[in-house]
Amino acid sequence: MDDIEQTKKLLKKNNQIKILKFMEKVDDTKKKKLADQILKLDFEQVNRLYKNRNAKFVNEKKIEPIKYINKNKLSSKEINEIKQIGDQVIEQGKYAVVTMAGGQGTRLGWKGPKGTFKLEKVGKYIFEILTETLLKAKEEYGKEVYWYIMTSIDNNDKTINFFEKHNYFGYPKEKVKFFKQNTLPLLDFDGNLLVDKNFEIRYASDGNGGVFQALKEDKIIEDMQVHNIQWVYVCGVDNIMANMVDDVLLGLAIKNKMPSASKSVKKAYPEEKVGIFCKKNGKPAIIEYIDMNEKMIYARDDENELLFGESNIVGHLFNIESVKELANYHFKYHCAKKKNPYIDENENEVIPNEPNSYKFEAFIFDGFEYLDDMIILRVNREDEFAPIKNATGNDSPQTAEKIYLQKYKQNIKNK
Ligand code: UTP
Repeated sequence: MDDIEQTKKLLKKNNQIKILKFMEKVDDTKKKKLADQILKLDFEQVNRLYKNRNAKFVNEKKIEPIKYINKNKLSSKEINEIKQIGDQVIEQGKYAVVTMAGGQGTRLGWKGPKGTFKLEKVGKYIFEILTETLLKAKEEYGKEVYWYIMTSIDNNDKTINFFEKHNYFGYPKEKVKFFKQNTLPLLDFDGNLLVDKNFEIRYASDGNGGVFQALKEDKIIEDMQVHNIQWVYVCGVDNIMANMVDDVLLGLAIKNKMPSASKSVKKAYPEEKVGIFCKKNGKPAIIEYIDMNEKMIYARDDENELLFGESNIVGHLFNIESVKELANYHFKYHCAKKKNPYIDENENEVIPNEPNSYKFEAFIFDGFEYLDDMIILRVNREDEFAPIKNATGNDSPQTAEKIYLQKYKQNIKNK
């Protein structure tokens, strides 16, 4: 049987109707191109992903509130002591930042990598703002931290070219490394693989939970060890206020002998649709708003604070041992509905206005269950959280700019 026939058989067996139709119609070069890809594809994985697309992960785990520390309530004596502990590690160059920039950013709808989006009122790109935060840390601690930026197959080259073009915004190039995360195929709602206008099967990054595996496979963990990195702060690309080098968070983790620490902000109101830190079966975890019942949503403690009120802002600190450990686990895949271009059966490109496909994603916080414990540090929303997710409305460039300018206008005026 030749490759084309074998491909058709495989497609039939796995119910890939759409590509099968292409295999009947298109010219030989395109047939060959598709066949080459199909024969390499792991259909067991594709079928498993589709079958589990609605899997629920809550099951019967015991869910309890998690303890947290409110940064505002620490006395200056405590702060000084904790800072000293954190400072030492940063000053000795044992601290690194990982920015997860492998997402598709479909909601923002920007044509390039999210970090290359320019905030018009601020007059800066997202990556530029993040770089400035790290440059400020250099001023404070006298040492540039190593910066590892996770990209995807879709945006890796564009991201690197952008940094090159802008001369790394003044950050020492030798301290910046890019690494690519793994991918998974995109599927339409009937389980068909998507094909793009170049007759390539469409893949997308495997979620921010893929960060640990990518750190291992791309030999970044090895690089960290060469540089004697002991602590790694992992955060998203889309929070322009991210305080990535925080000696208080670090000092707290070290002082309390914790393998990990995360930042939270106080939930704005009980019904807010955010992921909340909690404990599941005694281990740190995040509960999604959709999985919380009424009682949990409104429950309060003696000080009238929400019992489940610490929102996740995707800023997580891990010691290097935890990073190594987490890289050995296989995370489960969640399924998100996203807008992804494809070609229809007439080979016309379709750019959807509504979500049309499943993207399979591991979530970084699914790794928490493998950790013994975690410090949760509540920080001020207005100081550390201005996410850019949507093109307009909540969590958009407009809202983020407003928060940024409110905090920094004073400094800008003083310049
Ligand atoms: P989001 O869940 O907001 O996804 O990512 P997104 O892909 O950026 O945006 P939408 O949903 O398509 O609009 C949260 C953080 O995790 C990173 C993102 O870059 C962002 O910093 N991420 C997400 C990855 O690095 N890889 C992924 O596969 C997914």
